[in-house]
Amino acid sequence: MTDRTAIITGGASGIGEAIARRLAADGNMVAIFDLDGDAAESVAASIADRGGKAVGLQVDVTDRSALETAVEDVRARLARPTVLVNNAGMSVPSPFLDITADAWQRSLAVNLTAAFDCCQLVLPDMIDEGWGRIVNISSSSVHSGSPGLSPYVSAKSGVVGLTKSLALEFGKLGITVNTIPPGFIDTPMLRNTVAKGFVDLDLQTAKTPVGRIGRPEDIAATCAFLVSDEAGYITGQMIGVNGGRNT
Ligand SMILES: NC(=O)c1ccc[n+]([C@@H]2O[C@H](COP(=O)([O-])OP(=O)(O)OC[C@H]3O[C@@H](n4cnc5c(N)ncnc54)[C@H](O)[C@@H]3O)[C@@H](O)[C@H]2O)c1
Repeated sequence: MTDRTAIITGGASGIGEAIARRLAADGNMVAIFDLDGDAAESVAASIADRGGKAVGLQVDVTDRSALETAVEDVRARLARPTVLVNNAGMSVPSPFLDITADAWQRSLAVNLTAAFDCCQLVLPDMIDEGWGRIVNISSSSVHSGSPGLSPYVSAKSGVVGLTKSLALEFGKLGITVNTIPPGFIDTPMLRNTVAKGFVDLDLQTAKTPVGRIGRPEDIAATCAFLVSDEAGYITGQMIGVNGGRNT
């Protein structure tokens, strides 16, 4: 049990929801930031029903001033956040030549710039406390590339660079920064990509050494370790959770 306060962006669904539930079960107070405010509140209520402390807030992570207000709200209702999981993400599969400039910018905003904004808004609390943990959820597609997902893979590759640079800058202050690039994890996002024909799940399962698609809880367990005290000597790392597809 830690009694720390963790912000999880995109925590109302899939991987983020599993992370929020796991960090709450481990004793952290959790704040869920999500575009879908009702779903964020519903996950927070379900955590509270199990004895945890959680708040769900409607926030578009591409809106810096909304993020500032939400972080202030977390300080008032829970405590200063010292754990940040940048998990909110989106992908709109599309053949490269059909991608509009707006779609490219939106992908960078949600998948990369939002992580920059959240880190800048929460790091001062971590610095003051002399302890902090940031986990950025990237994607195993940064290892391999992915057809139809170039805006997404480009943004997620940027998340890896952000992670490595912040790890070097803040390591001496007791703050670690790592990234988990998930493989294929069974969530609404993956199901949407499969439905549009950009991923063949049977083929990908066959190619996966452990012989199955990942579960959101696989990512949550790794995240729970990275935000623990025990993981204090791990920073700037990309910890793959992909059933062995990428090594
Ligand atoms: N599922 C996979 O196979 C997989 C693989 C690699 C990486 N990822 C990454 O894992 C993370 C979680 O994905 P998931 O599969 O759980 O997806 P998901 O679609 O189930 O959940 C994503 C959540 O993010 C929220 N969100 C999206 N845009 C937002 C915004 N602008 N502001 C606030 N919240 C927003 C959504 O409302 C949703 O609740 C994403 O960053 C995704 O890129 C997923």
